[in-house]
Amino acid sequence: MADKDEEVREMRKVLEGSGERPSGGLGITRRTFLHRSLLGGAGAGAAAFGWFPLINTLDLTLGQGGGGFKFAWISDTHLYPKEVNTRFVDKATRAVKEVIAMKPAADFLMFGGDLAQLGNPTELDLGNQILNESKLKKYYIPGEHDWYLDMGQKWTKLFGEPNWFFDHKGVRFVGLDTVSRGPDYWTAKKMTPQQRMGHMATLDGSVAGAWAGVGRDQLEWLSSKALSGWGKDKPLVVFSHNPLYEYYPPWNFWVRDWREVHEILAPYGNVTNVHGHVHQVLYNEIGKLRSIGMLATSWPWPYAPEGVPALTKCHIRVDPGDHFDGVGWARLAVNASAKLENQYVMWRKDLLAESQVDSSCGDNGNQVLRPRMADQAWPFYGAIK
Ligand SMILES: [Fe+2]
Ligand SMILES: [Fe+2]
Repeated sequence: MADKDEEVREMRKVLEGSGERPSGGLGITRRTFLHRSLLGGAGAGAAAFGWFPLINTLDLTLGQGGGGFKFAWISDTHLYPKEVNTRFVDKATRAVKEVIAMKPAADFLMFGGDLAQLGNPTELDLGNQILNESKLKKYYIPGEHDWYLDMGQKWTKLFGEPNWFFDHKGVRFVGLDTVSRGPDYWTAKKMTPQQRMGHMATLDGSVAGAWAGVGRDQLEWLSSKALSGWGKDKPLVVFSHNPLYEYYPPWNFWVRDWREVHEILAPYGNVTNVHGHVHQVLYNEIGKLRSIGMLATSWPWPYAPEGVPALTKCHIRVDPGDHFDGVGWARLAVNASAKLENQYVMWRKDLLAESQVDSSCGDNGNQVLRPRMADQAWPFYGAIK
């Protein structure tokens, strides 16, 4: 035991360097530099995911008259009514409190979907109430857990249209709805709304299938309205609940029409997709499109058995006995060079190491591209509006 303590002290010395270290209760901030050279090199990769001082380069960039701004992301709170479970309420509340405490303050708060667990109006009202503790300007996109009890009625009443765009300090932000266009399996199966919601709430749903999609009408809206008049070299950030590429379709870690999305976004030189749903540290680049997967406040999903992008530095497994471990929210900033930078605020126990083996996604087999379900099923999904 004494030896182990000594080893831990030694590791801390090496890992922490001279930066100020967050207290155990505050969480670890990890930052994703959105540049291939930083993620690719072993040394640089270690630096990017090691300990960071609380006042980090992101704050310095913004604090020295360099321009730029910050915003916050919270998603996947999966709230139950308070009388059923307060665990998720506690975590959502903590995230909102931490967003409120940001200095300098965020310009806005983005909520990325799965506010509720079973689409219950009580859950959505509760989520709305928790988020409204922050007086920041807020934007919302839906998750499947918010939608499929009443097909979005309560959600749209609270939050408005599920897709939108706006410009802020030289950046265009687009919110996409990737959840509402699931193929109608429920009518044929004569399901009640509760049964439908139950199937959509299952990660590996054999009935709901690979439901995530943008849809032809929204693709048309994206190209003709949301991106209209926006210069191809200007910064563009696209928010979605599901990732906009094919990671793992059986868990809807994709959108079925991702090829069309990429075709529309391909001419843009500075575009980043920020998405929820995967509840894990995730990073990918396809062409010029960068994608960042966000943490949930509720629970971390394991990495999918295949398809983990090679650029992802996997997040270590968490302690299942500590429900604050491995979850959190994110601070994002558009820096003076108009690049989006992400800083995960991951609440963790006092863990000192990351290893690919422990994360379960270090196996190269994860990263071998081969025809998967998406390609086999494409003619079918391609036919869905
Ligand atoms: Fe979720
Ligand atoms: Fe989701």
